[in-house]
This record gives sequence, C-alpha cells and structure tokens, in this order.
Amino acid sequence: MIILESSIGNYVYSKGKKYSYFGGNNYLGLASHPLVKEAVIQSVKKYGINFSASRRTTGTASIHLELEKQLSVFKGKQDAVVFASGYQGNSILLEILKDKYSIVLADQLAHASIMAAIPRERKMICYDHCDADNLDKQIGYNNISRPLVITDGIFALTGEIAPLDKIYSVVKKYKGILVVDDAHSTGILGKTGKGTPEHFNLPESENIFQTETMSKALGGYGGFITGDKLLTELIREKSATYQASTALPPPVVAAGIASLKIIHDNPDLRTQLLWKASNLRKQIAGLGFQTTTDNTPIIPLMFSSSDKAKNLSFLLEENGILVPFMNYPSKKEMHLLRIAVTVSHSTAQTNILLRKLKKWIEKNGKE
Ligand SMILES: Cc1ncc(COP(=O)(O)O)c(C=O)c1O
Repeated sequence: MIILESSIGNYVYSKGKKYSYFGGNNYLGLASHPLVKEAVIQSVKKYGINFSASRRTTGTASIHLELEKQLSVFKGKQDAVVFASGYQGNSILLEILKDKYSIVLADQLAHASIMAAIPRERKMICYDHCDADNLDKQIGYNNISRPLVITDGIFALTGEIAPLDKIYSVVKKYKGILVVDDAHSTGILGKTGKGTPEHFNLPESENIFQTETMSKALGGYGGFITGDKLLTELIREKSATYQASTALPPPVVAAGIASLKIIHDNPDLRTQLLWKASNLRKQIAGLGFQTTTDNTPIIPLMFSSSDKAKNLSFLLEENGILVPFMNYPSKKEMHLLRIAVTVSHSTAQTNILLRKLKKWIEKNGKE
C-alpha cells in the first residue's frame, strides 16, 4: 500500500521515492492549488480548525452561508446545502424524498453510497448497467408506480457516463424521480461544469436531483445538494444526518469557496482536461488495452483476471508510476487499473506512462 508523504499533484512522494501520479480524483488540480491553500490558511487564522458543533446548534458560520451561496450560483439553483461528505448525500436525499417514491431502481453498478442509502423498508431493484431499455422493462414488468431511479453520473471505476437522456425518458414515462450521484461529474461535465444533466441538456425539472461532492474536481471535501428552497429547507429541517453531525470545518469550507472561484474564472480547465483525457484514452485503446469510450478523466485498463491487473500496477510502481489496481466495493467483480487524468498532467509525463504500457502489452499480450 502506498503511504503518501506529500501533497497530491502530478507527482507524489512515498517512502522517500518520487512517483508519477495517476491516482485519486484531483481532476482539476485544485487540491494543492496555491490560491486554495492561501484561502485555507487565512480561514484557519480567522476561525481555527473546527466550529465543533452541528449546523443546527451553534455550528453555522458566515463562511458556510457564503459557500452555500457560491454553490447555488455555480449550479444556477435557488439554494444549496452542504454536509459532511459526498457519501452522505444519497442517504440524505433518499430519506427526504421518501414520501415521493414507492420503489428504488438503481444501476447494477451504482456506487456503494447509493446502495447504502436505500431506506431499509423500501424495495430496491437493480437494472442492467447503463441500460435504459432494461430499466423500462423492469418498471413495466413489476407494474411500479412512482419509481425513484438512481445512478452515478460518471461511474467511478469505469469512467462511463450514464445515458441520462434515455434514462430520463423512462423516468418521465412513469412519472418518476431521477437522482444522479454526480460525484465525478461536478466541475467536469456540461457546458458550465454543472454535471451530467447539463451534459445531456436535460430540462430543469423538479423531478431531477443531483448529489454532489467537493472532494473530487473541487479538490476539497464535503457533500452538497442544490435545488429550490423547499428542498434545502426540508434537508435542514428533517435530515438527522445533516442535523446531528458537526458542521464542515473552516479550512474545508474556505477551500470550497476558493475552488469554485477558480472553476468560474477558468472554464478552459475543463476543456483542457477533457482534451487530455480523450487523447490519452485513444492512445491507450490504440495500444490494445480494453478500456471504455466516454470522454471523462477516468480511464480504466480492464482485465479478465486480477493477476494481470495487479502485475501491471506493480510493474508501473516499480518504474515510478502510480496507477492503482482497484480493489473497491462493487456488485460486479472487476479487475482493473484506474488511470485518473488531471489537467496538469504533461504530455511528457503521459508519454512515459504510454511507453511503459506499450512495453508491458508487447510482453504480456492483449486481453
Ligand atoms: C459515485 C460516488 N459517490 C459518492 C462518493 C463519496 O464521495 P465523498 O468521498 O466525497 O464522500 C464517491 C467517492 O468516493 C463516488 O465515487
């Protein structure tokens, strides 16, 4: 296991050794951006480390309100509510919406936080991965009224984008609710980085919800949900998870505010990232590796067994390149290495990775 001894960037240090880094989710390089770090330092000077109380009691500070305002502006929504983690977002939302749906239909490969969020007393059906026709059949066959359909926007392991256009057509047909966990899409997909619904030009609808996080493209930490005031007030008034956990700490809040400003001022970060990711994905597929095709910063190298995947990850590590073998909770067994592209990766750096991958496939063959 790699134990980090540095911040994360193009390179990291572990046990005194320098590694070219393709892990994590720091897609826009904001986790150690100088402006973000400065904002964090100033916030600690002013507020210390922790407000040490829940938002409901004495833990709400002016910077929480500022962050929520900036998030709502970024998303073009009336309001935003922040809480301890992206993982919690799905539980908070499914709990709050409980009266509005009868059954949950989740993508077969939905993230662990989605599976954990389904209320115990609610029935859950998995539909085939990214398959809107199967979703339609499952709802029709089971005669479901008021379905809640939930999926990742970008899938964390494979980098696939859920076909939300087709999924939303099915949701509309059955007068259901669509929830998108956009942990990996926020700040990345869509014309203004609002995520998967914007990527597919879905209409503004009271039946589409997103759960999001500041821990990936935004480089910080903490979950959030945006929407109209009715929704955000419901969360503030009814969610035990929101009410009974300690408010986000000042450095985390300050990081969120600073990152949002950088994203707003530099829309080219997103375009450059997707351009780099697209080039690298094409070259990796060209070498003969099994990968996926959607243009996202997550490029998997997929294998039929874990031995080959582990062997490649180990060999890269020996050569000073970190591409993690993913041993991660999922309903389907997958044997893959996950390359996370960031906007700051240089061509020279990706070329070194490509040379090592080429050498490996020449020796070990294609899948
Ligand atoms: C799809 C998805 N949802 C939710 C989460 C949880 O987000 P966070 O780590 O910010 O709590 C993750 C990240 O691991 C994720 O990949």
